[in-house]
Amino acid sequence: MARHLITSAIPYINGIKHLGNLIGSQLPADLYARYLRQRGHEVLFLCATDEHGTPAELAAAKAGKPVAEYCAEMHQVQSEIADGFRLSFDHFGRSSSLQNHKLTQAFAGRLAELGLIKEVTEEQVYSVADGRFLPDRYIEGTCPNCGFDSARGDQCDNCGKLLDPTDLINPHSTISGSTDLEVRETKHLFLRQSELKDDLAKWIDSKTDWPVLTTSIAKKWLNDGDGLQDRGITRDLDWGILVKKGDEDWPGMEDKVFYVWFDAPIEYIACAQEWQDAGKGENWERWWRTDKGADDVTYTQFMGKDNVPFHTLSFPATILGSQEPWKLVDYIKSFNYLNYDGGQFSTSRGRGVFMDQALEILPSDYWRWWLLSHAPESSDAEFTWENFQTDVNKDLADVLGNFVSRITKFCRSKFGEAVPKGGTYGPAEEQLIADLTKRIRAYEGHMDAIEVRKAAAELRAIWVLGNEYLQASAPWTTFKTDQETAAMQVRLGLNLIRIYAVLSAPFIPDASAAMLAAMQTEDDRWPNDVAAAVAALPAGHAFAVPDNQFDKITDEQRSAWSERFAGTRD
Ligand code: MF3
Ligand code: ZN
Repeated sequence: MARHLITSAIPYINGIKHLGNLIGSQLPADLYARYLRQRGHEVLFLCATDEHGTPAELAAAKAGKPVAEYCAEMHQVQSEIADGFRLSFDHFGRSSSLQNHKLTQAFAGRLAELGLIKEVTEEQVYSVADGRFLPDRYIEGTCPNCGFDSARGDQCDNCGKLLDPTDLINPHSTISGSTDLEVRETKHLFLRQSELKDDLAKWIDSKTDWPVLTTSIAKKWLNDGDGLQDRGITRDLDWGILVKKGDEDWPGMEDKVFYVWFDAPIEYIACAQEWQDAGKGENWERWWRTDKGADDVTYTQFMGKDNVPFHTLSFPATILGSQEPWKLVDYIKSFNYLNYDGGQFSTSRGRGVFMDQALEILPSDYWRWWLLSHAPESSDAEFTWENFQTDVNKDLADVLGNFVSRITKFCRSKFGEAVPKGGTYGPAEEQLIADLTKRIRAYEGHMDAIEVRKAAAELRAIWVLGNEYLQASAPWTTFKTDQETAAMQVRLGLNLIRIYAVLSAPFIPDASAAMLAAMQTEDDRWPNDVAAAVAALPAGHAFAVPDNQFDKITDEQRSAWSERFAGTRD
């Protein structure tokens, strides 16, 4: 029994996430957490909302609400949706928590004490009408290079040229539309990441077992130089964590807050404190402080590829820079993108399926199964309605659902609703046990390695073995001449349902629970010994035929949904 700390990248607060976001971090993290718990490990699985920054302020303004109120509401909304998808967080925290405020300020104070923070005076665009400095991407104007009239202050989307806001012709604020812009001086804190480059390079080089996607991004950023320039960690905003050195004021920084990407990853630690303070557990330091027991912990992070630089360089720079005994991540599982029906998911255009909508139309297991079995691991993946309909109907309805319903219904009609007695295993059963053993060991190997697609394929193959056995042994035919043998075949089939429930739980927890309930057992022991597991439900054990578990997705549903989620514009 080992101890595993698992975190999923914390989703932004400004709106409901789409299925591409879900499969990029939270869902595979949940799969792994559930699996490790089932295998008897001690798991702390944390996630939170990422609440600071300009997007949160603007979303609140658009909703006509004070930003704190908006964030509290959206946290609740995201939390309920996470429950709907059965994401089994031990705690779903908030980066705006008091714990995170304190810890972020403490880190900044510590880094300053060690000489790793410098103060830099910069010129930035200030919008008089908005009463605020504008981040580059909130300034638009005409591109000096190609004449495109809505080039952003950081880049022209038409010709691709990287820009400075002061390059734009006729610039205006995209927040208010105002052209009353001035260049003003402002002071910011920079973390001297360049000082930590050698330590970071050594640490990343030691991670020889990381997925290629993770290390290739990390090394590109490390070596391009871009990634390790000293990094601004403060912003001129109202909403965020006030810039302080620990508990003390920071002269000249009174009106500033920390940059959202500085405080967000610190929430991984603060979240464990929130978990403890909420009375859900004890001794958070045992998970996070290597001087308090966390050197026994294996820490795994899950995220989309765009998040990799922040988790391989920026956050480790904060941790290593502090020279304090914080736990560093052991393994970073990163994902490519999931596209939607020939294009991208788009939040602004409402294109694709969002988490709340998904739960409105189908139970979470359908989504969990499809998304995990198509996880964008080695390349980007694509959601299409045709593929979703075909695969869900085949895997869940034809293979798993059909197996469960055939065996339970046949048993009820010939032997009644209890595991039948009689007969002994022959060569076909021995072969099945051997095949299952091999595949279950392979499944465990893929789950241990967080090879999500391979694990799903193996699980599907395990389901198929049951159907093939049933097809070949044909108890409905056997029954006519040899009731004892038919009873034995059915007994084995009923035991397979329990085994399938246990093995499938990380992927489809609701169906799994329904299968165990139908088998009227709480025995959810992992099939370490398959020969023993196929006898877990003894002759005479009562069960009930479950309701049909997976209705097939019809062609009418498919075309209605594909129209509904095509997007509101263009
Ligand atoms: N909110 C970010 C996103 O959705 C992820 C933040 S992860 C953390 O892409 F490490 F910063 F917390
Ligand atoms: Zn241009």
